[in-house]
Amino acid sequence: MNSVIVTGAAGFLGSHLCEYYLNAGYKVFGLDNFSTGLKSNITHLNSLKKDFEFHEFDACQDWTFLKNKVQNLKYIFHFASPASPPLYQRLAIETLWVNSIGLEQALKFADLYKARTIFASTSEVYGDPSISPQPESYWGNVNSFGERSCYDEAKRFGEALIFSHNKRHNTQHGLIRFFNSYGPRMNPDDGRVVINFIKQALAKDSLTIYGDGTQTRSFCFVDDTIAGIAKYAESYISVPINVGNDKEFTIKELAEIVQKITKTSSLIKFEPLPSDDPKRRRPDLTKAKTLLAPWEPKIPLEIGVRKMVDWLSNY
Ligand SMILES: NC(=O)c1ccc[n+]([C@@H]2O[C@H](COP(=O)([O-])OP(=O)(O)OC[C@H]3O[C@@H](n4cnc5c(N)ncnc54)[C@H](O)[C@@H]3O)[C@@H](O)[C@H]2O)c1
Repeated sequence: MNSVIVTGAAGFLGSHLCEYYLNAGYKVFGLDNFSTGLKSNITHLNSLKKDFEFHEFDACQDWTFLKNKVQNLKYIFHFASPASPPLYQRLAIETLWVNSIGLEQALKFADLYKARTIFASTSEVYGDPSISPQPESYWGNVNSFGERSCYDEAKRFGEALIFSHNKRHNTQHGLIRFFNSYGPRMNPDDGRVVINFIKQALAKDSLTIYGDGTQTRSFCFVDDTIAGIAKYAESYISVPINVGNDKEFTIKELAEIVQKITKTSSLIKFEPLPSDDPKRRRPDLTKAKTLLAPWEPKIPLEIGVRKMVDWLSNY
């Protein structure tokens, strides 16, 4: 039986990845230190699947204990990292370490098995972009010394580490740049915009927009994201790829969609924009649609938001 390791297994994307590979017949080792993830995200995996083995573990620590447990390792998905701005700013140093030291541990462990590590990078490597949509060839407009730099520069370092590691060791580790994925099992308290609006609407609180709401984002439902990850892993390409949805919405449009779907009486309130908040965010998916064909995002925002509302209503 082939196996995979997922770091950040109790997180939003990590828990969906574990589920995907368990259903595909793999033994799955989940690692997480619960710094931003939730035990409830993996309870169903523990109880339903005998091939799921979870370890509460900080990915920056020594991975040796796993050596006599793991066999036939195919992929390591290094997804451990705080991902929402309030949490990565609170855990700034930890964010820098897990995307550097933690990634180095994953790469070295994968090499023992000739396995492939897939690193969760981000559209934040483009910073506040001066072009839109953003193709992978765009080098970004990033502040290295500010509130978001612990995350943006950590991910940029991780990408550089993979490039250099592959060159020196002739390996095929890879990375994906995610653009705002959303769906069930996001931490309701982590402050990311889709879950935040839905939580506020269901609680009949005002929906908080930071800035005037004209900044844009593109939102990719988790099922589309996971399909893209699996395709990338099996493709054995190592170049960076954008994975997201290329339909662009203003934050105000998103708030209005949430108001409509939840039928809430909540109004919108505006608060000051945080520093370095990107004005536009939309992936150029040309490369993904070619190299990961026939992958493309399929689930429209209204359908995805509806699924999330159903999930959070029963949370
Ligand atoms: N969801 C998105 O839209 C998005 C966009 C861009 C990039 N990403 C990246 O994808 C990955 C997963 O994001 P997510 O949305 O699932 O976030 P998440 O916060 O839900 O999950 C991250 C998980 O990593 C765990 N973790 C953090 N530091 C750890 C450490 N040192 N050791 C072990 N576990 C640790 C957390 O406890 C959490 O369970 C992250 O690397 C993130 O930067 C996500």
